[in-house]
Amino acid sequence: MTRRSDQEFLVFGAPAIEEAEIEEVVSSMKSGWLGTGPKVARFEEAFAAYKDAPFAAALNSCTAALHLSILAAGIQPGDEVITSALTFCATVNAIIHAGAIPVLADVNPHTMNIDPAEIEKKITPRTRALLPVHFAGRPCEMDPIMALAARHNLKVIEDCAHAIETEYRSIKAGTFGDFGCFSFYVTKNIVTGEGGMVLARREEDISRIKILGLHGMSKDAWKRFSDEGYRHYQVVECGFKYNMMDLQAAIGIHQLERVEPYWLRREQIWEKYCRAFAKLPLGLPAKPATDTRHGYHLYTLLIDEKRTGISRDGFLDAMTAQKIGVGVHYLSIPEHPYYQERFGWQPEHYPAAMKIGRQTVSIPLSAKLSDQDVDDVINAVQQAIRP
Ligand SMILES: Cc1ncc(COP(=O)(O)O)c(C=O)c1O
Repeated sequence: MTRRSDQEFLVFGAPAIEEAEIEEVVSSMKSGWLGTGPKVARFEEAFAAYKDAPFAAALNSCTAALHLSILAAGIQPGDEVITSALTFCATVNAIIHAGAIPVLADVNPHTMNIDPAEIEKKITPRTRALLPVHFAGRPCEMDPIMALAARHNLKVIEDCAHAIETEYRSIKAGTFGDFGCFSFYVTKNIVTGEGGMVLARREEDISRIKILGLHGMSKDAWKRFSDEGYRHYQVVECGFKYNMMDLQAAIGIHQLERVEPYWLRREQIWEKYCRAFAKLPLGLPAKPATDTRHGYHLYTLLIDEKRTGISRDGFLDAMTAQKIGVGVHYLSIPEHPYYQERFGWQPEHYPAAMKIGRQTVSIPLSAKLSDQDVDDVINAVQQAIRP
């Protein structure tokens, strides 16, 4: 009999939604302006201020942010972009959609982040950009990564989908490189339902991203139906439909106001999990490195069947049976058939990412969790490995 047996299923990554964003969405609905408009502009300004970044553009996903950043970086068909073997498929797909060739580098088995020494091995005369992913909210080793980029004249695009609050040596994730890409998907640290943001160092890059994100129409074309009177627009590129709506920004504006208290709550839960699991036969996430700030996006356990006494998939099932939602972040990229067929990648060539991908389980780590929920998760983990 589990503690949650008479309760609802604990949804993995359920967001904390409060009255302020509900009222803001309702006011957008009543105003009649649902699409891209003044609330998107407000959200961009607030996000740029939070990140100490000069320029921001809101889009409808981090995938869109990655795609347009690669295009705005001037990457040409056939150019190579190096990214992590342990990431969400969107990172790699964005490189492919931009016409470039993705090249994978293995991760450090301890930090789970792309290993700068592995990046260096993969640099060729065709390499044009590095695309590090701050996995689980832990910053990549940006000093050696930026040094490699400078030495080889490479663009840097940071995948910050997990890393809104992340810092490395007091510099905010997403502001090291030419572009930083963020996600506000439902399970992320702050949410807009679907949504993304790009930070850029240069004004011309953010202008190009805004144009590419709205069909390639000349800047501010979204204002064409406003009370300033009809404005003609010109199509200056073949763009995409990637714009964020005011309805989404209405949620994001208020979520962003709570980004710090939410981070503190996740830090508390993270530390409680570390204490609770310290003596169990499980792999725990590496402690945050000194002089960094971890984003605490994912709490990942490693289930080594020989040590833990249960298979990873058996553990997933045992947690689900106890009404605790779990995730897998991620099966390594070379495990997927599409990439194997297209690029000939094999998991064994990326042994650290392969091993993590086959052992990892993410347990709930959301600001929405009550103390009772956290105790239930801890209890379920203990039950799952000591049936
Ligand atoms: C590492 C990483 N990159 C990119 C993405 C894509 O984000 P979005 O769903 O906002 O497109 C995700 C989403 O889960 C992610 O985890």
